[in-house]
Amino acid sequence: MQVDGQPYRTVWLKPGNEQVVQVINQIKLPHAFEIEDLHGVDDMCHAIKTMVVRGAGLIGACAAYGMYLAALEAHDANFEAFMQQSAEALKATRPTASNLAWAVDRMQRALAQGGTPEQRRRAAKAAAAAIADEDVDHCRRIGAHGLALIQSIAQRKPGQVVNILTHCNAGWLAFVDIGSATAPIYAAHDAGIAVHVWVDETRPRNQGANLTAWELGQQGVPHTLIADNVGGHLMQHGLVDMVITGADRVTRNGDAANKIGTYLKALAAHDNGVPMYVALPSSTFDFTLDDGVAQIPIEERDATEVRYVSGQTGDGAVETVRICPPNTPARNWGFDVTPARLITGLICERGVCPASTAGIGALFPDQA
Ligand code: MRU
Repeated sequence: MQVDGQPYRTVWLKPGNEQVVQVINQIKLPHAFEIEDLHGVDDMCHAIKTMVVRGAGLIGACAAYGMYLAALEAHDANFEAFMQQSAEALKATRPTASNLAWAVDRMQRALAQGGTPEQRRRAAKAAAAAIADEDVDHCRRIGAHGLALIQSIAQRKPGQVVNILTHCNAGWLAFVDIGSATAPIYAAHDAGIAVHVWVDETRPRNQGANLTAWELGQQGVPHTLIADNVGGHLMQHGLVDMVITGADRVTRNGDAANKIGTYLKALAAHDNGVPMYVALPSSTFDFTLDDGVAQIPIEERDATEVRYVSGQTGDGAVETVRICPPNTPARNWGFDVTPARLITGLICERGVCPASTAGIGALFPDQA
């Protein structure tokens, strides 16, 4: 997508030195646009853990490039042991998104093809690039399938804007390019449909305010930032035509883990007859699970994120301030699970399907 009119992906090899991986430092957005150099697998683990890079698709692609960096670092004499240790370290960085382990496993299968360490380094580079390119291709297809849904809403209200509510950032910053929840929005905007996005701020880390608002602004898509609790009110007053969120892990029966607060949006959407779609590439499915609430691991992060907020002061400095009394205890769950029964449909690279075992199985008979 565009940053100040320049096309960018979110992860790439450094031009002129392909032994270095470059990423956009998302902790700095929207106040600064900075590129970070990552030199080894430890750098990549740190970047994923601290959310320099985040979002299900992107942490999958970054984990793949982490395995490539590990292959460059590994000594020939203990190549396999180092790669195994690196795979485990990458998988341990964040627990909820399926894409992370999916990408590491795929890299390990590519490396298991054999050959000399040098051949395997080349294989790792090719496999990481393939994962990144596939992520872009799948997001583009999600956009095409989701566009049809937005078109049909637009046809029902000619001359009026289609209002879409989204939560967190499942945009191009959460993938290699384009995004999942944002893909249909970008496709509709490009097709000349008047769309407007309600952007939930997404406490505690404010991915909506910091990232989604920034990326929609960069692409020129009309949007309005709202506090997290506003969505239900807007739905009661007919101001939301559809909800589209991303997902971090979706079970084979269609339960979807996404950023904390998504479940409340789904409940409000259900109560108000607003269609609630979840957009995801197939790498986000976990076909081994069939009960999202009971089985999906939910990341609990440091309570500091709840007790403090960061932002830019009038003189341009970025500062962090406490918003509660000094000793207030806090807890910080990063994700919640929306049961399949509250989801109107899943927008995947192969099409739109009901959030059910039968619906998902029909679209992915080879995997379900
Ligand atoms: O904690 P994050 O920012 O890595 O959370 C992931 C997300 O951005 C959201 O849950 C998103 O909607 C799904 S990721 C495509």
